[in-house]
Amino acid sequence: MEVLGIDVGGSGIKGTIVNTKTGDFISERHRVETPQPATPEIIAETIHLIVKHFNWKGKVGCGFPSVIQNGVIRTAANIDKSCIGVNANELFSKITGCSIKVYNDADAAGFAELKFGKVKNFKGLALFLTIGTGIGSALFYEGKLIPNTEFGHIYMNNKLEAEHFTSDAIRKKEDLNWKVWGKRFNQFLEYLETLLYPELIILGGGASKKFEKFSPEITIKTPIEPAQLLNNAGIIGAALLA
Ligand code: BGC
Repeated sequence: MEVLGIDVGGSGIKGTIVNTKTGDFISERHRVETPQPATPEIIAETIHLIVKHFNWKGKVGCGFPSVIQNGVIRTAANIDKSCIGVNANELFSKITGCSIKVYNDADAAGFAELKFGKVKNFKGLALFLTIGTGIGSALFYEGKLIPNTEFGHIYMNNKLEAEHFTSDAIRKKEDLNWKVWGKRFNQFLEYLETLLYPELIILGGGASKKFEKFSPEITIKTPIEPAQLLNNAGIIGAALLA
């Protein structure tokens, strides 16, 4: 089946048509900058531009950087606060004329990794983390997604939320070298390890592409590896979930 997969990010929205059997892209990826402030209506209009670009009439799966319960946006850590409470399934479907289903972006990306990445079909307790502007998380057991885990918002011992302590955006903002940032990230992983005892951790998002630069600082016992699908995971996963 072919589904249009879309990934909504802080600055841009990307999409392409995905073959949901193989996870392959059927077309080139198309990216549109999101005008700011990115209110729900503006995001909907931007998604509409992508739908029109592909002249798409079928199903659409969309990853979104918030808690999403049955299509309703519940949080807005790094997006415009006016998004909270909006039924994104309804609004985006109405504006685009397509049937759109919206999911948390990390849940979508993790789902794609488990289906088509190098950890495919892993059946144990797997934790997927995306390290970008924020920190996203997705938890899987026996291949099933437990949605909206939001571990990027747990408080570290310095009273900061994890994503304000060790996201990729913080690494850049505070100009941390990989060693210093890696130690911070390791503290976060240690915390998650004692909370969850996962059997595998997979890292996606910007910083995961530089895994070899900070992996010497990672001392947890849980096997950990960078994601395989990288930038494309969010789009593929959203299409699969839809
Ligand atoms: C949001 C999550 C999202 C993550 C990555 C966090 O700030 O709370 O819902 O998955 O950023 O975009």
